[in-house]
Amino acid sequence: MSSYKLSVLSSLIFFAAVAISCNHSEKKSDKIEIRVEQLLEKMTLDDKIGQMTQVDPGFAGGDEQLKKSVRDGRYGSILNLWGVEKVNEMQKIAIEESRLGIPLLIGRDVIHGYRTIFPIPLGMAASWNPEIVKKAFRISAIECSSQGIKWTFAPMIDITWDPRWGRIAEGCGEDPYLASTLSKAMVEGIQGDNLTDPTAVAACAKHFAGYGFSEGGRDYNTTYISEPVLRNVVLKPFKAAKDAGALTFMSGFNDLNGVPATGNEFTLRQILRKEWGFQGMVVSDWSSISEMISHGFCANEKEAAYKALTAGVDMEMSSFTYAGNLKTLLKEGKIDQKLVDDAVRNILRVKFKLGLFENPYVNPEAQKQVLNPEFLDHARTVARESAVLLKNKNKTLPLSPKIHSVAVIGPLADSPRDQLGTWVFDGKAENSVTPLTALKELLGADKVNYIKGLQYSRDKNKSEFAKTVALAKQSDAIVYFGGEEWILSGEGQCRGEINMPGAQDELIEALASTGKPLVVVIMAGRPLAIGNLLAKADAVLYGWHGGSMAGPALADLIFGKESPSGKLPVTFVKGSGQIPFYYYHNNTGRPASAKNWTPMDSIPVVNPQTSLGYKSFQLDYGFTPLLPFGFGLSYTTFNYSDLKLSAMSMSTTGSIEIKANVANSGDMDADEIVQLYIRDRVGSITRPVKELKGYKRVTIKQGKNVEIIFRLEAKDLEFFNGKANVIEPGEFDVWIGPNSAEGLHGEFTIH
Ligand code: NOJ
Repeated sequence: MSSYKLSVLSSLIFFAAVAISCNHSEKKSDKIEIRVEQLLEKMTLDDKIGQMTQVDPGFAGGDEQLKKSVRDGRYGSILNLWGVEKVNEMQKIAIEESRLGIPLLIGRDVIHGYRTIFPIPLGMAASWNPEIVKKAFRISAIECSSQGIKWTFAPMIDITWDPRWGRIAEGCGEDPYLASTLSKAMVEGIQGDNLTDPTAVAACAKHFAGYGFSEGGRDYNTTYISEPVLRNVVLKPFKAAKDAGALTFMSGFNDLNGVPATGNEFTLRQILRKEWGFQGMVVSDWSSISEMISHGFCANEKEAAYKALTAGVDMEMSSFTYAGNLKTLLKEGKIDQKLVDDAVRNILRVKFKLGLFENPYVNPEAQKQVLNPEFLDHARTVARESAVLLKNKNKTLPLSPKIHSVAVIGPLADSPRDQLGTWVFDGKAENSVTPLTALKELLGADKVNYIKGLQYSRDKNKSEFAKTVALAKQSDAIVYFGGEEWILSGEGQCRGEINMPGAQDELIEALASTGKPLVVVIMAGRPLAIGNLLAKADAVLYGWHGGSMAGPALADLIFGKESPSGKLPVTFVKGSGQIPFYYYHNNTGRPASAKNWTPMDSIPVVNPQTSLGYKSFQLDYGFTPLLPFGFGLSYTTFNYSDLKLSAMSMSTTGSIEIKANVANSGDMDADEIVQLYIRDRVGSITRPVKELKGYKRVTIKQGKNVEIIFRLEAKDLEFFNGKANVIEPGEFDVWIGPNSAEGLHGEFTIH
């Protein structure tokens, strides 16, 4: 055994013993504070600035230079270094050869899986199932920590109202309540129950704050967000992440109300640190400190470093404004030493909490912890629960496994990389099981008639159409797999129009004209404007980019092993011109209704001067979206009845129970996601027409019913009114229902 291996082993044994001896978390945190101070005292300014700098090996001047810099204590963290040997080698230099032996924090984007890839986060959000989401993130942490990654830049919890924005794929959709429950689950999954466990990974709530509101859905763009929207919507999932113990936050790229998020004292210092008491570490986004120069907020790197540090960014990702300027800023008396020390404290605290000083190395044995069958099985479960059934005319789905032949068509039926979705650095296409493979396995290859029809999602070449239609005609049913390639969503990958790319709509129309049962399965990174195909297809299943096991999961649903049970975490618009359209909009002074809007085609050619009803709608799109938030069908039917409230009124400190009966009146056991909405009728500022306040995913057996009980506390109705957080007495509507547009209605008051 080499002396290096021996030293790793002995430190593993020694420090495992130390870890066991300090059990009590309170004592532990006192101890950590003492250790932070003791270490801080020994640090030179260079050591401190080093801790505040994170580098990507590709930008470190080559391998030897990187090693030298680590030896010199110039970096506190490296991102995008992975693999047991490399990480252990670099860590050994930091521990054994740098002056103070401070371990490196190794970070990477592990957004929806490491090697086992789960559905894109927007897809996971459609499961409305925090438990399975938590487990998915736990698995990601087990896998990535086995390669030396102890910090992931997840969860991404940016609320957005704009499906054009490519990064909608990475978040939990439009709703602050749903996103908050999932944000908590994600943080808990990533960090696990014990931060010093070798599989614990530090979470990073990002991008703080408002990045999802970029103008026009163009990535990196300006955001203007009123303080009520910021506090009532955007910040909610971040607060949930903080409360769940997220060790780190990342500041965003965006300019927020004229102040870049990375130099924003209001969000980073006032809200995050002072109001919420966050004690973890804030890292900038990639070069977002130096980008404050392009924003026109700073004249040069020195000013950028000054503004980021003053605002509360502890560690700089990838650019070097701290390394280049903090010393001068201190010398010139522009910043206080305490600012630097506090930043270093925040960084060291995370390292101590993660047990990195005791256990800096990755155990090579842990490497085997990837793609284990249990993980893949969970990926299949999550993909299954994430898929949303949007249409099912005459019970087209499920198809019978006894079917004689199925035409499997479309650019995404057998596209292993595309089904993984965006933000996949380590997942491999070769580990994907595609729908084509899964269907062949399920039915037998001889029953599957496969043709792509279009080679990729943007393909406009119709030369295979005739052949495709002919094959469809020979089959008992058609299952079309289309949508978007992975590259059409994600960072920087935004669209102006969000319709089906390429000639897909035309191909679907041609397939519909065969008269064969037509099932369309969409795999995409965003909610597409699918009005055309929704009208043509007999059944539509929205599978998002479903990850490694998307194929078997979709096959399970198509052939009825289980019923689809996901619900939309985002409103589906009819077209880009309807954006933004989110269900919790305010009412306006002139709300439209079915009775008072005028469709464009019904307008006479010659008109008197008129405003066509003086209501808030669009002549072409009307006033409703294509599909509402929370929507999703099932193979069975659920009937809602007997809404009851435990009281008609509660005090501002009270609570009430709201219950309803949900019966499975169809012919299959299935899950239903029961949703609780309220409306605060009159407020000191105008209030949304509906707000989600609770949900429950329940399995209801065929022919059975379940009483669903929600406890609503008055404090759940608190909101920021521009001046303060208030719970305002008054009248409220309440609904329990299957989505945001339907439900049993009741009312109560707060006195
Ligand atoms: C930029 C992205 O905005 C951020 O989400 C990511 O974590 C970093 N790059 C690191 O890759």
